[in-house]
Amino acid sequence: MEYHINKNNYKDFDIYDLGKCAPRSYLIPYPDRSSAAAVSLRDKRYNSPKVLDLGGEWDFKFYNDPKTLPDFLDTGSVDWDRIPVPACWQFHGYDRPFYLNTRYQFPYNPPEIPGEDPVGTVFSWGGADLGIKPRWQKPDEEYNFVGVYRRFFDIESTDMTYTISFLGVASCLDLYVNGEFVGYSEGSHNIAEFDISDHVRTGDNELLAVVHRWCNGTYLEAQDMFRNNGIFRDVLLYCDEKEDIWDVYFETKKKDGKYDALIHVSTISDTEVTVSLTGEDIKETGSGVTTDRSVEISLSDLEVTEWNAEEPVLYDLFVETPTSCVKLRVGFKDVTIRDGKFYLNDSLVKFKGVNHHDTSPTEGYTMSRDEIERDMRLCKKYNIDTVRTSHYPPDPYLLELCDEMGIYVVDENDLETHGTFHMNLPPSYNYITDDSKWAPRYIDRISHLFERDKNHACIVMWSLGNEAGGDYCIDREYDYLKAHTSIPVHYESCIHSKRIAYDVGSQMYPDVERVRLVGEKRCEVEKLNDRPYFLCEYAHAMGVGPGNIEDYWQQIYAHDNLMGGCVWEMVDHGVLERDGNYTYGGDHGEWIHDSNFCVDGIFYPDRTPSTGADIVRFTYRPIRVRHLDGDDFEVFNTCAFSESDRYRLDFTWSDGRSTSIVPDVHPLSKKRVAVIPEKKGGKVLDGDLLVRVQTYDTRDGDRLVGDEQILLESRKPEVKVGKKAPIFPKGFTIRAGEPSTILFRAGTDNDVDILMRDVMEPWYHQVEKLINYKEKDNKILMRSEIKNKKGIFLCTDYYEAMEGGIRATSELRTMRGGGDIPRFGKTFHFSEDFDIIEYQGRSGESYCDMKDQYPIDVVKCSVSDMTTPNIRPQESGNRSDTSWVTISDGHRRISFISLDGTFELGIKPYTDAALIKMGHRSDEKRTGTYVTLSAFQRGIGTGSCGPQTHPRFTYPADRTYRFSYLIRIED
Ligand code: GAL
Repeated sequence: MEYHINKNNYKDFDIYDLGKCAPRSYLIPYPDRSSAAAVSLRDKRYNSPKVLDLGGEWDFKFYNDPKTLPDFLDTGSVDWDRIPVPACWQFHGYDRPFYLNTRYQFPYNPPEIPGEDPVGTVFSWGGADLGIKPRWQKPDEEYNFVGVYRRFFDIESTDMTYTISFLGVASCLDLYVNGEFVGYSEGSHNIAEFDISDHVRTGDNELLAVVHRWCNGTYLEAQDMFRNNGIFRDVLLYCDEKEDIWDVYFETKKKDGKYDALIHVSTISDTEVTVSLTGEDIKETGSGVTTDRSVEISLSDLEVTEWNAEEPVLYDLFVETPTSCVKLRVGFKDVTIRDGKFYLNDSLVKFKGVNHHDTSPTEGYTMSRDEIERDMRLCKKYNIDTVRTSHYPPDPYLLELCDEMGIYVVDENDLETHGTFHMNLPPSYNYITDDSKWAPRYIDRISHLFERDKNHACIVMWSLGNEAGGDYCIDREYDYLKAHTSIPVHYESCIHSKRIAYDVGSQMYPDVERVRLVGEKRCEVEKLNDRPYFLCEYAHAMGVGPGNIEDYWQQIYAHDNLMGGCVWEMVDHGVLERDGNYTYGGDHGEWIHDSNFCVDGIFYPDRTPSTGADIVRFTYRPIRVRHLDGDDFEVFNTCAFSESDRYRLDFTWSDGRSTSIVPDVHPLSKKRVAVIPEKKGGKVLDGDLLVRVQTYDTRDGDRLVGDEQILLESRKPEVKVGKKAPIFPKGFTIRAGEPSTILFRAGTDNDVDILMRDVMEPWYHQVEKLINYKEKDNKILMRSEIKNKKGIFLCTDYYEAMEGGIRATSELRTMRGGGDIPRFGKTFHFSEDFDIIEYQGRSGESYCDMKDQYPIDVVKCSVSDMTTPNIRPQESGNRSDTSWVTISDGHRRISFISLDGTFELGIKPYTDAALIKMGHRSDEKRTGTYVTLSAFQRGIGTGSCGPQTHPRFTYPADRTYRFSYLIRIED
């Protein structure tokens, strides 16, 4: 069949919508109530006889050079490949993954985008590949590629209304059916629907979809992610009879403790409509007849149970016409802002959130049902009750799951113009957004967001977009939402414009001090003091970390105007290669890229949790316990709705005593509770008296939701050293450089800030020179001088043979220069056979500003368990508060026992110096067992995008540091 291909729409600024249906809610009609009731949520999209899933293998032709796309395309003579739909073409052999944070892949010249010629010269002045140097780059062979898709579908009769629905296409879509042009759409993450009734015929039909890599709308999609393309979400064909349902809007209003529901229904043509609302405590029905295809049916004075994430009560809403039935799972909630505070159902609430991108290591933007379910289950498991859908609307299935499972959603518009900042001087966020010419496109996007998602109980805020600046166009978006919904509007980036804030104040990555000022309403930005305040992004979880997020929550709980926030971000974006390695920006031949800035989640790409996930789970625990005095503890119920009696708290003291309690504390309240141990004889730990409190949600399968350990009394461990021994034990040798002194760590991602300043780099290349060595009477005294770019340091080591082992003492003084010393450690090298580890200390990866997520315990493991599998290898696996460690090859055992409290323990299969040079997991080759005992190690912070390590967790060079331990060698 022959098609006249439109080669203009994607680059014509006047066109962003041709022939598209007006936006409506995402719904799946069934022929009748029983079939609508019977289908599971998971299968709903795929099982209706009224909706055809057009997914599967489609014909595909990729045009590397857009000039070769013919004006007249005869589908019969194209040499088609095959590609799955939905999918991103970069993950199926066309083009390549391309990761960019803020910039565009083409020259910044809005609204112009490359047509058929190569992209030409591109200017930018920031990015991980450039630092902040202005650069002009001219990539070879970089084009606005085109993908042409074709498939056939069968139609039995032309008496119906056929609507084709694309749930996600990047960047735009020209649609043709049976040789005719149907329409054009932009807005990658919005649904594009076209009525193709006039184009189809009985029997076989040919559908052609032309997808350009970029369109004018791409200026609005500079989100920090791999820039993928293709038909990446499902394609559905609605086959509607005349009296079928077209749209439903379930609108609720709270009045005197009861709810009125207004159900707006529109149909394909006029017909009778009945609605029924059923749930545990109600059964209400209503009916009406549509005129001009729509009707409103109201149900009044409903006494219902309100929806919230802790107890997500939903009702079944059946909307029926003679030929169709739509089942929606609806909830009742009331969101209000009063006196600068955010209330849900009249309760204050603290949002324990995370930012969620659609990202799959094997499919890019395309996420299967299983993957979406897995992500939401992980949220629940890790105490995350809020998702910001950064930075676009997710697959509608995700929202349906949030309704069911109880997860609050900040639903974000598909909008970011960040490239205006980094590809332009002077930089500004506002160039596009404050240009009224773009306003129709903004309205198009926000209306699609609202209309598609308007029925979800889970949505607590609409978000106008991300990092697109202000004012004119974004104001129009705000006006649009205000005219359609009472749910508050969130938008962070107007902080860069005169608007400052909409319904809630919002910021990303402020330091704790600023959050405190806002909490106290003393912030210099007045508009942040007079309304609720949300951290739309905080705790940048790139690499090891995030450090010190507890301080934020101390403030959030202390001030009613602080709403909580969303950690950046849930999952690392990485590409799984055939060899099992994960790649990131720059690994795919990208000529501009932002390196591993996309690898910043609390879960690895395959969703295994990193320490960050455990930190978040710990910080977001529903019950917090604090020791007051004697047997008394403070129990803080951080839930907004649940009484604390849904939780059981198991207390275990480190001297072997234990008991359980079920506390009785109201939501967001604290209470003094006496906890008397009842049992004795449990496991005993050396050292401090600690109590571990494990909290279980008895209403959620006895799920462990909290595991905290409280120090009750400091007790120095008793280490029997014995008298001086006549000789050093066999096997003990101290040579120059061994153990070596280490003052650096292989920089974590959080050691490099957003301007690419690396706090760790000056500490590398240290040269250690022995300046003094004395051995006498089984005592060794060594002095060594350590030089690096930061200064000169003197390390004095003293070893003495004792009956129980060798007593070692190390001291560090700064002779010249200084700053904050990253670490003071001594590294001992063993052969690989030394692989059996046992220690008492924090039971997982911990640093001084992120250690409470893992209680102190006795742990047995091997060397491979002592580092964490970061996508870009870096310092990892430290164990804080270690009092002893034993390393063994099965025969010999070497123990290090702290003599003055605890040390930081690091055990690695390679040297720290080798680690600095590693870029990917595949570089991690074992060369031995390297044990580092450190007097201290700098905290982690979240400096990769946010505050650097807090001074409380740094170690200034103007002090003398000393630690001592016993080395015991047993054959
Ligand atoms: C924010 C942005 C996110 C992400 C993050 C850093 O500025 O909104 O999309 O880029 O920084 O990882």
